[in-house]
Amino acid sequence: MEELLKIENVSKSFSLKGGKTLQVLADVNLTIENTPDRPQMMSVLGPTGSGKTTLLRILTGLDKPDSGTVSFNNGEVRKVCIGDIGVALQESPLFDDRTVLQNLIKPAKQGGLSSEQAQDKALKLMEEFDLLEFSNLYPSQLSRQQRQRVAIAQQLTQNRRYIILDEPFFGLDPNHISYTINLLKTLVNKYTKNTFITFTHDISSALMVSDKICLLGKPNNSDEKNGAYIVKEYDLFEEGLAYRNRIEDLPRFQTIRKEIKNVYFPSLVIAKN
Ligand SMILES: Nc1ncnc2c1ncn2[C@@H]1O[C@H](COP(=O)(O)OP(=O)(O)O)[C@@H](O)[C@H]1O
Ligand SMILES: [Mg+2]
Repeated sequence: MEELLKIENVSKSFSLKGGKTLQVLADVNLTIENTPDRPQMMSVLGPTGSGKTTLLRILTGLDKPDSGTVSFNNGEVRKVCIGDIGVALQESPLFDDRTVLQNLIKPAKQGGLSSEQAQDKALKLMEEFDLLEFSNLYPSQLSRQQRQRVAIAQQLTQNRRYIILDEPFFGLDPNHISYTINLLKTLVNKYTKNTFITFTHDISSALMVSDKICLLGKPNNSDEKNGAYIVKEYDLFEEGLAYRNRIEDLPRFQTIRKEIKNVYFPSLVIAKN
């Protein structure tokens, strides 16, 4: 039986000052099915404040849900633990006192490679990510986009099946957004044994890199105490829209983009606290 990553009935609230409670997630259900030997990139798309990072932290084991589970399920169920899933966080935190090369060697060794193997792997990834010329620079000497490349490459130094990216398009100028879209498309098409999951509020970029889109939010007219859940899914692979060149020119792309932008996003509540 193929392995599945399953989020089941995950709810999460935070206690705020003054004894108030903010319910962020309510009964989130999401199954990430294995699609062997074809590229796989799913995006969780939602407005800022809709609970994406909260869900990402639970999905990767960094935080615990109040209720519900995140598990691998291949007939036998096993709960996801910290370290099972690779994650490139929004600000691309790196080892600031190490060079780019060392930033890749360290996790490769932690993943079980010898020094020599780790160095080989790091160099290969640096070539692939156009990072060779920065190999001896420190993170503080890199642009945001370069740091992001190192952060994603770090995740590929270890044999982790799932790689999660938080807001990979955030804070980048338009050229860098296009660069990141192309980079992700290339990676997803090359690393077909990996499953990539992007958490983003950027509708167009998500549509350009993904084969599936899951909208996270809660309808505007819902009780304020309710949290967000997956309100809509688009299967771009089924529709033949995934991984095509210039899909942004296709009428169906425009329709979906407008539907999300005009129908779903305005009607999803942004959490206030
Ligand atoms: N540790 C926390 N304590 C209190 N509130 C939090 C905490 N983490 C997130 N929140 C709140 O939960 C809501 C969702 O946040 P987040 O998951 O970061 O949304 P997104 O990533 O979609 O922008 C926001 O209102 C945020 O302020
Ligand atoms: Mg976020």
